[in-house]
Amino acid sequence: MNKNAKTKSKSKLKVTSELDVALSPEGIVTLLLKDHKAMRVLMKKIKSHRAAPAQIRTNFKLLEKLVLSHVKAEEFSLLKRIEHHPKFEDHAKESIEEHHIHESVLVGIRKLKSTDRQLTQIKIFCELLKDHIDEEEEELFPQFKRYSALSTRKKMGTLFIQRRKQTHRPDENLGALTSVKVLPK
Ligand SMILES: [Fe+2]
Ligand SMILES: [Fe+2]
Repeated sequence: MNKNAKTKSKSKLKVTSELDVALSPEGIVTLLLKDHKAMRVLMKKIKSHRAAPAQIRTNFKLLEKLVLSHVKAEEFSLLKRIEHHPKFEDHAKESIEEHHIHESVLVGIRKLKSTDRQLTQIKIFCELLKDHIDEEEEELFPQFKRYSALSTRKKMGTLFIQRRKQTHRPDENLGALTSVKVLPK
């Protein structure tokens, strides 16, 4: 990484820490984990051997809405602010690229006419998503938590909730959106 990129990256995280925004009661990592937990619940229902095709599709629609809103908010509040930081750039860039892959897979699933193929690809999508959130939880989040100040994570939490509220669909109110209170400054 050249010197310019380093300076730019440091200032991007610093800019976030100095932002004049209210502190969310919960930090960014806690909020991201809430969304991940909601995803795991839906994925478990989708992958259940007892699930009928109609139930799989209903839960998949909820999962798709949650994922699309989550990735936009995760990138805006965290990943784009650390993607040039020498400590986090590998994990952050990998996460962003995997989001692109997930979005392409979702577009492909929507276009499929065969129900059988759709159900198979839905399960494959769940495997990709599970690997992705496992990796974020095991590597990036603990590393970021060790490095960052709680106040920065709470500011990021506010940005995350704001973006989640903007991008969620009317009938998607899961994970982090179940606790949307933001404390005044
Ligand atoms: Fe992600
Ligand atoms: Fe995530």
